[in-house]
Amino acid sequence: MALDVVPVALGARSYEVRIGAGLIDRAGAEIAPLLARRRVAVVTDETVAGLHLSRLVAALEAEGMTVATLALPAGEATKGWPQFTRCVEWLLEQKIERRDIVIAFGGGVIGDLVGFAAAVLRRGVRFVQIPTTLLSQVDSSVGGKTGINTAQGKNLVGAFHQPSLVLADIAVLDSLPRRDFLAGYGEVVKYGLLGDAAFFDWLEGAGPTLAADAGNLQHAVQRSVAMKAGIVERDETEEGERALLNLGHTFCHALEKATGYSDRLLHGEGVAIGCALAFELSQRLGLCSQEAPSRVRAHLRAMGMKVDLSDIPGELPGAEDLVRLMGQDKKVIDGRLRFILARGIGAAFVAEDVPPDLVTGLLEEALLRGR
Ligand code: GLY
Repeated sequence: MALDVVPVALGARSYEVRIGAGLIDRAGAEIAPLLARRRVAVVTDETVAGLHLSRLVAALEAEGMTVATLALPAGEATKGWPQFTRCVEWLLEQKIERRDIVIAFGGGVIGDLVGFAAAVLRRGVRFVQIPTTLLSQVDSSVGGKTGINTAQGKNLVGAFHQPSLVLADIAVLDSLPRRDFLAGYGEVVKYGLLGDAAFFDWLEGAGPTLAADAGNLQHAVQRSVAMKAGIVERDETEEGERALLNLGHTFCHALEKATGYSDRLLHGEGVAIGCALAFELSQRLGLCSQEAPSRVRAHLRAMGMKVDLSDIPGELPGAEDLVRLMGQDKKVIDGRLRFILARGIGAAFVAEDVPPDLVTGLLEEALLRGR
């Protein structure tokens, strides 16, 4: 198995992201050196448990570990106080101590919730991320953002708590529904768009092959993780550069709210639509040429992804209401609209004070397009 190793250099909190096909079957050997005693707790969701948990448990037991497992319901609704409390209390019942390791085995919901549980359990225990979706492999498992949703909004309660190791087994992505795979791909494209034009060029050719070509898929995951690692190393707690990872997210969060965080729009789909809109906005502000948004849209279309607001099923609120929803985003600072804009493909930057009228006008046209 060809293994890519991406270091995340954060002093005493440094760790590696290991990427390869079949890593789950080697998880015991990968994790064993971290253990003070041969005992781990694995938290997963019911879908991942049905598909992959027995293999993970076998790999851990093969190294002589005692394994306790908890499977939470699958889905975004799990990422709130009730299942968080359940998870923390279960970990306490399992007598997980500070020197032990908790394993988060699943997509972004499980990674965020279990990471946050590990952050607060006994004032912080170590945890290992084994992400099982493309989105969590290239984004949420790396960088230490953990947390849950509350009635007031998404990810409003949480902590920065870096994992001790991330194992990204690209073979598990074979079992992802096509829609989830493409939603994760929205985050992959984002890396090219925000900071690596050559990677975007490569994706224009290789993107359609990823689901069938393990070598290309591994490269896409490795490059995405390497970009994220570099950004997190320079700005762990999002004082500056890390905000670039939110390219497309101001639009995305408004659209997610407008669709009730439902199946109508997956997060990664919203990111892709948001990236296309951010490039259009950049072009209208005279920051980049027309070619840039055209290329973004053409690539997303070629991948069979959602690009336009009309690709979201059902009614959407009007442009002014969408802009109002942006104003509730937690990344709004002092009530100012903050966007990640671009001077071209691979050249994103943080822009404060984008005129709301311009955004409203853009959205009015976007709402009409394709209807
Ligand atoms: N997903 C954005 C970040 O980790 O900063």
